Amino acid sequence: MFDSLPTSVSVYEVSPRDGLQNEAAQVTTHAKVRLIEALVDAGCKRIETTAFVSPKWVPQMADADQVCRLVPKDLGVSYSALVPNARGLDRALASEIEEIAVFVSASETHNRKNVNKTIAETLAAFEPVIGPATERGIRVRGYVSTVWGCPYEGETDTAKALAITQTLLDAGCYQVSLGDTIGVGTPLQTKRILNAFLDQIEGEKIALHLHDTRGTALANVMVGLELGITTYDASVAGLGGCPYAPGAAGNLATEDLVYTLHGMGIETGIDLEKLWRAGQMAAAIVGRELAGKVHCAGVQSLAV
Ligand code: HMG
Ligand code: MG
Repeated sequence: MFDSLPTSVSVYEVSPRDGLQNEAAQVTTHAKVRLIEALVDAGCKRIETTAFVSPKWVPQMADADQVCRLVPKDLGVSYSALVPNARGLDRALASEIEEIAVFVSASETHNRKNVNKTIAETLAAFEPVIGPATERGIRVRGYVSTVWGCPYEGETDTAKALAITQTLLDAGCYQVSLGDTIGVGTPLQTKRILNAFLDQIEGEKIALHLHDTRGTALANVMVGLELGITTYDASVAGLGGCPYAPGAAGNLATEDLVYTLHGMGIETGIDLEKLWRAGQMAAAIVGRELAGKVHCAGVQSLAV
């Protein structure tokens, strides 16, 4: 094992969106922008900043338009935001964001709870999103959630997840991130799933989005690395969870991911100490202790 690791990895930071969407207390727009600035300062080049979803469904993301207006520009950072439908695309276009992400689950029940539609209806709702976005030069990423398992239906049919992924790629997504939404995946299962995907799809079009409910996310990253996957989603301080997936704990902590990758000589372009500062800021914003406790000498305290 570990004979064919990549030399560099692209980290797709999701803390401002996935990390905060589940927080009950409203985080101020100012605090969100401060977190994004800290992530940029740490060298994060791909950041999912917010979600143009219904504020009735996810009140925490109601300020998506303002967040997009206030993030630091022209620093070589690609910002993205979730878009569930044409209304979301209109908002994204008005915000002048350069990348969006559409999302759908591989299990009907989670999809229905999350977006109030069947999987087929959700994919149909992307038709007025993906084509018009790409025609305007906006990159579109896709998510398929519950690929490993669903909180309502149990283990997911890999063939179904693969077919949905292929549909998103055919529609124009440049990459699809496979979600272990509730963090149930284990390494041999991950190997089986990824081998099925990589039989049909180039590795660079696949990313992994692993929630770390049971501490298996990094073990699953190792399987992904060995199989040539080079994009990993993560969230500083391990913040995160899907409001419509009961039991979904935080994402894989970016600090832990970067620490592990750097320790294996895999480049990320991220400064670990500054990343740790961003993680401390995220913890301060939500007001509690979180994962990703990489200790770096000299770091004392942070004002949010
Ligand atoms: P609905 O209620 O079926 O939709 O929600 P609707 O079309 O009937 O609209 C209801 C109201 O919302 C209307 O307002 C619309 O205008 C408004 P009203 O007339 O009642 O005043 N509306 C919108 N407002 C702003 N922006 C929009 C928008 N769309 C409609 N884009 C809908 C359907 C999809 C909108 C809703 O279910 C929704 O927003 N769901 C999002 C849920 C969500 O964000 N979940 C978390 C993200 S996914 C995730 O975390 C998983 C991931 O991390 C990967 C993984 O971990 O596996 C990505
Ligand atoms: Mg997620």
